[in-house]
Amino acid sequence: MCGIIGYTGVKGAQEIMLDALEILEYRGYDSAGIAVCGEDSCVRIRKCAGRVKDLRLLCEKDGILGTCGIGHTRWATHGGVSDANAHPHRFGKVTVTHNGIVENYRDLVQRYRLEERLQSQTDSEVAAAVLDHFYSGDPLAAIRKTVLKLKGTFALSIMFEDIPGTIFAVRNVSPIVIARAQGGSMLASDVTVLGQYSKEYFVLPEFYVAVLKAGGVELYDMAGETAEPEWLTVNWDVDRSGKGGYPFYMEKEIMEQPQVIRETVLPRIQGGIPDLSGDGIPDSLLADCTRICVVACGTAMHAGLVGKALMQSLVRIHMDVELASEFMYTDVIVDEETLVIAISQSGETIDTLEAVKHAKKNGAKTLAIVNVRGASVARASDYVIYTNAGPEIAVASTKAYTTQLAVLYLLTGRMAYVRGSFGEEEAKAFARELMRVPEVMQKVLDRREEIHYIARSILNAQDVFMMGRGLDHAILLEGSLKLKEISYIHSEAYASGELKHGTIALITEDTPVVAVVTQDKVKSKEFSNIKEVQSRGAGVILFIKETFGLEKDAVWDSVFMLPAMEDGFMVMPASAALQLLAYYVSLDKGLDVDKPRNLAKVVTVE
Ligand code: F6R
Repeated sequence: MCGIIGYTGVKGAQEIMLDALEILEYRGYDSAGIAVCGEDSCVRIRKCAGRVKDLRLLCEKDGILGTCGIGHTRWATHGGVSDANAHPHRFGKVTVTHNGIVENYRDLVQRYRLEERLQSQTDSEVAAAVLDHFYSGDPLAAIRKTVLKLKGTFALSIMFEDIPGTIFAVRNVSPIVIARAQGGSMLASDVTVLGQYSKEYFVLPEFYVAVLKAGGVELYDMAGETAEPEWLTVNWDVDRSGKGGYPFYMEKEIMEQPQVIRETVLPRIQGGIPDLSGDGIPDSLLADCTRICVVACGTAMHAGLVGKALMQSLVRIHMDVELASEFMYTDVIVDEETLVIAISQSGETIDTLEAVKHAKKNGAKTLAIVNVRGASVARASDYVIYTNAGPEIAVASTKAYTTQLAVLYLLTGRMAYVRGSFGEEEAKAFARELMRVPEVMQKVLDRREEIHYIARSILNAQDVFMMGRGLDHAILLEGSLKLKEISYIHSEAYASGELKHGTIALITEDTPVVAVVTQDKVKSKEFSNIKEVQSRGAGVILFIKETFGLEKDAVWDSVFMLPAMEDGFMVMPASAALQLLAYYVSLDKGLDVDKPRNLAKVVTVE
């Protein structure tokens, strides 16, 4: 989850790293630090609890001149948020930054008698100490011996005091990407930051050691043999990673959705029919499976729930959606006939990655829906479909979610076609409606000030309930997560019919309810359920498909008319509306919308 940067070259390392850390802050923002090898070959560290802007102030007062350095922005796991626990950590001749968790750090502390010698409470400093223990002039040997001792996940960037100008990197699971840039070599925890500097990069393979020098990068396997990196091209427009004039990335990313959905969908419609052959997905993969199982976390899992509703109704195939974090521990049944779909924006969520590996071990075919090219989940899966969302910087996912949905629509359409649930005309009609999504979603975005006005009515609420049935419930689970994570208002999304089985006890005049009504087949039942909460005093904010119309005698706190699509596609305009609702509540509460407390964009710990 932490952000890692490293640079060695001809330019000042401090400035390059501070700029990069600002971009990387979305991976964690508890504390930040840099270590720079100075002109006198001494490694000096500046670090502090707080944001990168605090580190920048520290460096402005007391900077370090030098052209080689490593930097870090932290999401605390072991040890609280403090200056001492901030990275980099130095032990003896070794300075490291670390992303991941060293699970056996307690054993290592005992084994190498480190108890009295550590300055921090972190597992990362223990890794530095073990490296130092094994270091006697041969860095590759020390790294090799150390990684054999470490249990858990790690991405380590390492400087040895007596090897100035050189950075070493090694990893297990947690990612490191490497590029030639800025008159030297760079490494980072993700491509979003390196993409600013270079069009080409490679993903450090697990248990290989990269040696970065000003003149280039060398790669070694654990036996010390040289290896060739597999270079990849940055697949997104770097210009898209600025805020583009919006106050927060989240607003910009919400507004980008019509464009990125278009870019995700259009290349995958051939002859008017959804077609995934360009992604290397054989029709047999979709035709031959007897079951589908989605593994994902958070927002990506919510995308899976929408996919399930679509697949079951249009393809009539059994589909489960499993929390990736539970997948390995709940004896889920997957076999050779199961298609496991892993959904992940970052492609680095460790639970999702482990679930994919587990599914493969059980013989399942695996298909990843991922945004970041070359990410671990994509590489671990048999097949991959990339969403073309471009870099998503705000911690709360928006455009990644709706492009995941777009891919799930494409998969549903293709699957229905190859399995015979759709004839050619039905497949074409489905694709036509999917291609309308960008223009319909744009209509919601153009009316965002209406939603801003509605948001003011829940600004001071302690709890907000959300209710809907079927697809409306799936949409609201995501809408509720968005509201919770960026506004800190407690919220729950309920299947409307379920509320009266207990939770309705919590409904009072102080609990506003958000209701979404977009599905004709359950609309009258949804209205009855809404009346149940209104009778208990709750004010209701209604998002309704515009063609449904409103009952004459009904009273609403607010109503937003959603532009109409076929019911199965109403998820798209409704999602945009709920994203805006959460965004404006957070904005008007004066919160840091892009970096909500306790969260990080990439979750690489289990
Ligand atoms: C919420 C959010 C998270 C992620 C989850 C999975 O806005 O973004 O719930 O969806 O952490 O992340 P990825 O998609 O990177 O696997």
